[in-house]
Amino acid sequence: MRRRLVVANWKMHGSLDSAQALLDGLVSCIGDSAVEVAVCPPFVHVPLAVSVTTDSAIGVGGQTCSEYDSGAYTGEVAAAMLADIGCDRVILGHSERRQYFAETNDQVALKAQAVRRAGLVPVLCVGETLEQREQGRAEEVVAEQLQALLAEPLQASDVIAYEPVWAIGTGKTASPEQAQQMHAFIRQFLRQHSAAEAEAIRLLYGGSVKAANAAELFAQQDIDGALVGGASLDATEFAAIIAAAQ
Ligand code: PGA
Repeated sequence: MRRRLVVANWKMHGSLDSAQALLDGLVSCIGDSAVEVAVCPPFVHVPLAVSVTTDSAIGVGGQTCSEYDSGAYTGEVAAAMLADIGCDRVILGHSERRQYFAETNDQVALKAQAVRRAGLVPVLCVGETLEQREQGRAEEVVAEQLQALLAEPLQASDVIAYEPVWAIGTGKTASPEQAQQMHAFIRQFLRQHSAAEAEAIRLLYGGSVKAANAAELFAQQDIDGALVGGASLDATEFAAIIAAAQ
């Protein structure tokens, strides 16, 4: 049985004050939950998130990290540094990283290896653009992204997030059927490589998830949770998404 997981991706939003208020709200709304919950704030708000969530079940993660362990890489943050300050996971290969910061499939695979070396869980994002979907290439693109990640064997604790680029921040959610179809494709792809891990790896859906559409997404067989952007910036809305996953 895969435990449901809901991860907040705050992206580049907030101030110390707003982060504190959001975290306080989350800690008070989310008690003991059957659902695993984590927040991924901007790096500079990670220490605050770790400290506010210490006595809660809420995990904390980074939104990206370096593929290198240490060295002369100005501006970068190593996975081990995130582990050291109390993170338990790192989002990798988000489409905004791929699109605006030119991250390649191979680089995402190296980052995943760095994250595992640091003892953290990678939350690996895959997903096609609208153009690729319209060309009928959605599965091919996702398969290429997954294939690159297999440079090192996937682990049962790894998390994969399917985020169709056309659904991120646009208010357009993939229909539950569209999302399930791709999740089933991903699970089947993973089975060809490692049957045991394929059943254990949690597959999150991401792209305009909100309280109003969460339940129908979570009702799908291969959707094990969500990676939530905009709607995670409001404690009540995010708590309602978690409640839908119970
Ligand atoms: P969204 O973002 O929920 O605002 O669409 C999701 C994501 O980019 O992870």
